[in-house]
Amino acid sequence: MSPAISVPKRRLYTGAQMPAIGLGTFGSDHATAEVVAEAVRGAIDAGYRHLDCAAVYGNEAQIGRVLAELFAKGLKREELWITSKLWNDKHAEADVIPACEKSIGDLQCGYLDTYLVHWPFPNFHPPGCSVESRSPDAKPYIHENFMRTWRQMERLVDSGLVRHIGTSNVTIPKLELILRDARVKPAVNEMELHPHFQQPELFDYVRSRGIEPIGYCPLGSPNRPDRDRTPEDTNPLVDPVIVKIAERLGVHPAIVCLKWSIQRGATPIPFSVNRRNYVANLHAADGDPLTGAEMEAIAAIDRHCRLIKGQVFLWKAGQTWEALWDGNGEIEC
Ligand SMILES: NC(=O)c1ccc[n+]([C@@H]2O[C@H](COP(=O)([O-])OP(=O)(O)OC[C@H]3O[C@@H](n4cnc5c(N)ncnc54)[C@H](OP(=O)(O)O)[C@@H]3O)[C@@H](O)[C@H]2O)c1
Repeated sequence: MSPAISVPKRRLYTGAQMPAIGLGTFGSDHATAEVVAEAVRGAIDAGYRHLDCAAVYGNEAQIGRVLAELFAKGLKREELWITSKLWNDKHAEADVIPACEKSIGDLQCGYLDTYLVHWPFPNFHPPGCSVESRSPDAKPYIHENFMRTWRQMERLVDSGLVRHIGTSNVTIPKLELILRDARVKPAVNEMELHPHFQQPELFDYVRSRGIEPIGYCPLGSPNRPDRDRTPEDTNPLVDPVIVKIAERLGVHPAIVCLKWSIQRGATPIPFSVNRRNYVANLHAADGDPLTGAEMEAIAAIDRHCRLIKGQVFLWKAGQTWEALWDGNGEIEC
């Protein structure tokens, strides 16, 4: 079960080394928990050592059963990099540590390498609900409240249950405040990143602060749930620039998206339950690099097309999803 390929590593500010590609585990409403757990088994066998999990994906217990079997057969816990995430209905001070303990128990992994606050909003909505759904007591980002949650995240690091904590779906204005007030600074920031949504300012900002960017939806999430689709959305897998590079390399356009992401300095976490695809994705971390000219050509095709807009987190009637992302440089409240 030793990895046959050499995956680059990202050095976090603690000195820990995180594999620069991971397996996503959100089944997008179509891959069952059992199917995702079997993909985790196959992916580890193929050489993956980084898993992106979350309580809300509803499959941590099934993934944990696979991990327990692999540990019993000799896989060492410290060979894996395991992330989980705190869901929005667990931001209350009393809920954070039990939620993390539940994920660790379900995953049967003893500790987490990274634990993230999944969204900076505490607004509950049931998994799978329509984008029109709103929490009746929805709130905007309130920094004092977020820091109460973060203090509990810091305690998880103090206790050793978690090695690193991080953010997800935050903006520069929010990170400015979090970095000002955090005792334990975020080590990673998970953000949507693909050739049609490159987020260069946030990407450069986090790296300049010693935070590693983890890229979700690195392929443009071609099979995302219908509720996460709008007519304006674009697809990087059919972009002529990506397709032309894929033809030169004789690979699927997905591989070009992953090579670009890793060469740029991100850590993509592509999802797949198809062995041929997840093996090919891992090999994107190795082998022929993109040329400088190809990297520049991809930098020029940013369509600023956010796919995961987060509409369910809106807190006022009549708002549009842009309010969640602080586009005017200030935190909307
Ligand atoms: N922090 C957050 O808020 C957040 C939000 C969204 C996602 N995430 C994380 O990011 C992960 C990835 O995002 P995602 O799953 O939405 O999108 P994605 O990784 O961009 O796309 C996944 C889809 O692409 C297909 N695919 C994978 N490799 C392929 C290949 N080589 N050739 C052709 N098709 C391929 C897969 O289908 P097959 O299964 O058929 O291969 C799968 O349906 C999630 O699983 C989750 O862990 C985090």
